[in-house]
Amino acid sequence: MTDFAEPNIPQKILCVCLGNICRSPTAEAVLRRAATAAGLDLVVDSAGTSNWHPGKAPDPRSQHHAGLRGLDLSGLRARQVQPEDFERFDLILAMDRQNLHDLQQLARRVPAGQRRARLALYLEQAGLQHGDEVPDPYYGGAAGFEQVLEACEQGAQGWLRHWRAGGKK
Ligand code: 4NP
Repeated sequence: MTDFAEPNIPQKILCVCLGNICRSPTAEAVLRRAATAAGLDLVVDSAGTSNWHPGKAPDPRSQHHAGLRGLDLSGLRARQVQPEDFERFDLILAMDRQNLHDLQQLARRVPAGQRRARLALYLEQAGLQHGDEVPDPYYGGAAGFEQVLEACEQGAQGWLRHWRAGGKK
């Protein structure tokens, strides 16, 4: 038993960024761990809007900073988001507004009757005062990767709070 209003909880969640090697695999692992700790059995996956790194493991810097928090990203592999993902997932979470825009464009290729996923920003429920995007750390330094981990944790806790309160999927 959990303290969640079950009908409001999405079963399958896809986290999406540009490359699927920094932010979204981090978000996938963080959200999966947070959900499990809260007693929720969710399917969590990630993908990229680009097809720049297919089959690649997460960036070594992302793996390192996740590892400092006890998260192992080594088994994850990058893939590009597909129109079918809008049928397979309940909730698709974009790391930034450009990702959200690209996902909205892709969703137009899916017949309305087959669309299941709701689209939202990953940080929609985080209640952060300084922005609702997870900044791209790829061309920056270690601080950016730490910032991604921190934002991912806050985003995950925000969604758990939201679902606990009976908020929509
Ligand atoms: P991500 O970061 O979208 O968080 O995975 C990036 C990864 C790769 C590139 C850009 C951003 N790239 O230019 O290859």
